[in-house]
Amino acid sequence: MLCTAKEILNDAREKRYAVPGFNCIADVMIRGILDRAESLRSPVFLMLYPGELDDKTWWYYPAIVRAVADRYTIPIVMHLDHANDLDVIRAALDNGFTSVMYDGSSLSFDQNIEMTRRTVEIAKSYGASVEAELGLVGGVDFSAREKGNIPNILTQPDEVVTFVERTGVDLLAVSIGTAHGTYPQLPKLDIPLLKELNAACSVPLVLHGGSGTPDDQMRSAIENGICKFNVYTDIRIAMWNRFRKIAVELKENDPVPNGYFAQLREAIGDVVEAKTTLAGANGRV
Ligand code: 13P
Repeated sequence: MLCTAKEILNDAREKRYAVPGFNCIADVMIRGILDRAESLRSPVFLMLYPGELDDKTWWYYPAIVRAVADRYTIPIVMHLDHANDLDVIRAALDNGFTSVMYDGSSLSFDQNIEMTRRTVEIAKSYGASVEAELGLVGGVDFSAREKGNIPNILTQPDEVVTFVERTGVDLLAVSIGTAHGTYPQLPKLDIPLLKELNAACSVPLVLHGGSGTPDDQMRSAIENGICKFNVYTDIRIAMWNRFRKIAVELKENDPVPNGYFAQLREAIGDVVEAKTTLAGANGRV
């Protein structure tokens, strides 16, 4: 069933586990994620990245998710990731998204507060949750790779209380050393900073850049307050590797699509299983 982020993350915060969020774009990905999350008895975020929107995404993505959500017995959050356009946010909410992120990480502190506050105001009338970002999680934006590697700006603990109070946001993404995309060298998360942020923050914390981050550092981040983490790069890599393997192995000119779609779903499911287990979210439903 569909639910909001707020409805599931307070339990995660209290019991010190995290709920993974997976970016996805097509039916094969949505099903690969949901089938495995269901078998693991884990809540899950299905996340849509606005960089992947095209003129028919609103027809397909939310319609598929809404149509299948009630067939699954786990809580599913349909979440808009990294939006910075209020029209896109409204469109998502109109189409049944239960959670949206306003990403004001490239704005000044005051502008970020103002735009996040406006997002919260809009989302409230839909009963949806809002995630914001304070500091900046850099790395590579996979839909605009020409921008190159964007450096991190770590979140300042002294800004957290004011930001949360003035925006009314439900969950907060923080920058503690992870980055989007693949890592040129392994990250070193600032766990002492995370502890401070968690102590200062009245709402659950989110970590972007969950792919490629060593498991022991992820575990430490979850123990110290991360309640949701985002994964996309690892799914893209797993799907692509399987895709290439299938292309070499299948010799027919007209293979049956379900055969290779099932393999792609399995590759996606294996990433979902690894991340869900790492998060400690399995068996929570
Ligand atoms: P990765 O690139 O590490 O998978 O992070 C994805 C993400 O944070 C999307 O918001």
